Amino acid sequence: MPAPEEFVVTPYEVQGNIDYARVQELFGTQSLGPELLQRLRELAGGPLHPLLERGVYFSHRDLGPLLEEYARGNRFFLYSGRGPSGPLHTAHLIPFELCRWFQERFHVPMYIQITDDEKFWFRPQSTREETAEWGRENLLDILAVGFDPKRTRVFFDTRSIGTMYSLAVDVAKRVPYSTVKAVFGFKPHMNIGLVFYTALQTVPAFYPSWRAGRPIPCLIPAGIDQDPHFRITRDIADSLGYPKPSLLHSQIVPGLLGTKMSSGGNQKDNALFLNDPPKEVDRKVRNAFTGGRSTVEEQRRLGATPEVCSVWALWRTRFARSETEFVEVTEGCRSGSLLCGECKGKLLERVHPFLKEHQARREKARDYAESLILAGPPGAAAGDGGAELPAP
Ligand code: TRP
Repeated sequence: MPAPEEFVVTPYEVQGNIDYARVQELFGTQSLGPELLQRLRELAGGPLHPLLERGVYFSHRDLGPLLEEYARGNRFFLYSGRGPSGPLHTAHLIPFELCRWFQERFHVPMYIQITDDEKFWFRPQSTREETAEWGRENLLDILAVGFDPKRTRVFFDTRSIGTMYSLAVDVAKRVPYSTVKAVFGFKPHMNIGLVFYTALQTVPAFYPSWRAGRPIPCLIPAGIDQDPHFRITRDIADSLGYPKPSLLHSQIVPGLLGTKMSSGGNQKDNALFLNDPPKEVDRKVRNAFTGGRSTVEEQRRLGATPEVCSVWALWRTRFARSETEFVEVTEGCRSGSLLCGECKGKLLERVHPFLKEHQARREKARDYAESLILAGPPGAAAGDGGAELPAP
């Protein structure tokens, strides 16, 4: 049966021109509107993170109740993750940047999941050693975002399975095969690892409540494509006695070639990887797809279209330092006063120092990355890092 929509958004496939309003409708999520953003500003005690201010995070589930719990003194924890299949590019940091902001502003714990098992099951040619190695590499990039090591713990699936397994068993018992098949659209040839996998992606959302023996709210910032996993999580939460996690959903950022960025690391030219050498960065940005016109004259006269431009997406998601600057770039583009060549040059002046500083922070993370991995028996004080949980 042909899909009725012109796009596909699932954890295993993102295709086409995504109509976000339609995705929200199909998924049944709520819009992240001005009132909720204002409440966030109040509780954060200052300006919002640019990813919130600029609408990259556009949708949510139950953010309001989580914030009101927080206002009453019941702190939440953060959870996000990464399926390691190759090097990270700048857009991969989007959930982690937001988590870092929350951790800093709300003083809450952060759990990171590295799903080397998921990527091994999903990618036919991968080996276990390879996905685990990418997991270690990706973790350094994620920690370089600046999490507080005292409040941050890592589930590295193949290594943390002893910590996770009994909870995964409880979860798996409540998820019928028909649900997984319908939610992810699995085909008969797919291996059974992926059928079970969604139970593992649920575990971190419940783990702190399970360990503490009382409900602790959870906030998951993630790309909207990950929402299907957490619909399952939310469906079964009640029956296991855990709170339903709240979610914040981001858009899928357009790649440098003007297509959607796939999670696979094979499209080298479609993104700025965090370990790209400066020359590569120059070349990729100079060749990047923009929303510009075919001649300078036309662009001066008619202006360009930021919304389709991959360079504008970079300003929007990271490189504009203030809201004023972001508006300047956007309006300059739209009005035709800022031409693409100049815009790219200005952007590059930001990208190079960012990547250099990122590499330095990444090296520092080597000292403590291993110590954050939860690898002991469930609930044991020794070995599992004893992640600091929210105060009762
Ligand atoms: N499945 C995600 C991926 O393929 C990884 C992941 C695990 C994740 N847990 C998560 C992403 C929680 C967002 C939030 O990259």
